[in-house]
Amino acid sequence: MAKGTRFVGIFDSGVGGLTVLKEIVALLPQEHIIYLGDTARVPYGTRSPKTVIKYSRENVRFLRRWELKVLVVACNTSSSVSLPTLKEENEIPVVGVIEPGVRRAVEVTRTGRIGVIGTEGTIRSGAYQRRIREMDPHLQVFATPCPLFVPLVEEGWIDDPISRLVAHRYLRPLKEEGIDVLILGCTHYPLLEGVIREVMGEGVELINSAKETAKEVKRQLERGGMLEPPGAEGERKFFVTDNPDKFTEIGKRFLGVRIDRVEEVEL
Ligand code: DGL
Repeated sequence: MAKGTRFVGIFDSGVGGLTVLKEIVALLPQEHIIYLGDTARVPYGTRSPKTVIKYSRENVRFLRRWELKVLVVACNTSSSVSLPTLKEENEIPVVGVIEPGVRRAVEVTRTGRIGVIGTEGTIRSGAYQRRIREMDPHLQVFATPCPLFVPLVEEGWIDDPISRLVAHRYLRPLKEEGIDVLILGCTHYPLLEGVIREVMGEGVELINSAKETAKEVKRQLERGGMLEPPGAEGERKFFVTDNPDKFTEIGKRFLGVRIDRVEEVEL
């Protein structure tokens, strides 16, 4: 790799952030990317803000060993609680997943009734709820944690009666609130889009934060004149803090492509 290469740095609590990486690669195949999955300390969704901020700072310190153009916080739980700290401590653009998803939801809602689902930590932080109301105080937000979705996805139960049952249990009350937009506020949830759509029906637009975040990364790189010239595929480096084989195996499901090499690191 030529000296002076600059990367898009992405971190997540584990494998889920690959949904964000996948969208960034689809939009910007020429970009060089470094991905860190903190698989030794996953899940973040059940931890306190203090701990998630500590872990997030350590992840960033690791990624900053490389020259980064932009830092992407792919984890919703981390974005919910650590973004202000990370922005303050890093002079490069820091992109979280909350703002892009919220912007899109506010744009498309017609009834002004927006649903949000995420981990316990994300929903408890109130980050989505706050940002939506800041954008428009007339909007109504209905937020529900769906903690069982993460293990179901990691188990590969994507199109499965058990996932359907769980989705019904979590989402029926949201449907009854008459929302017309639902933000999938967790890295893993885009994989359950089919099941979630079945429960919510066609009248509810599902917002995939990963897709919206990729667009925001593109905007940031354009704004800074930092886009790689189109043509060659960018380099991709994967690091985890534990269990690289499991990451590769589950990663295949998230990414749909082979991950050739994953390096285990200590932070
Ligand atoms: N990556 C997390 C998120 O998007 C889900 C998994 C976890 O709890 O760490 O909130």
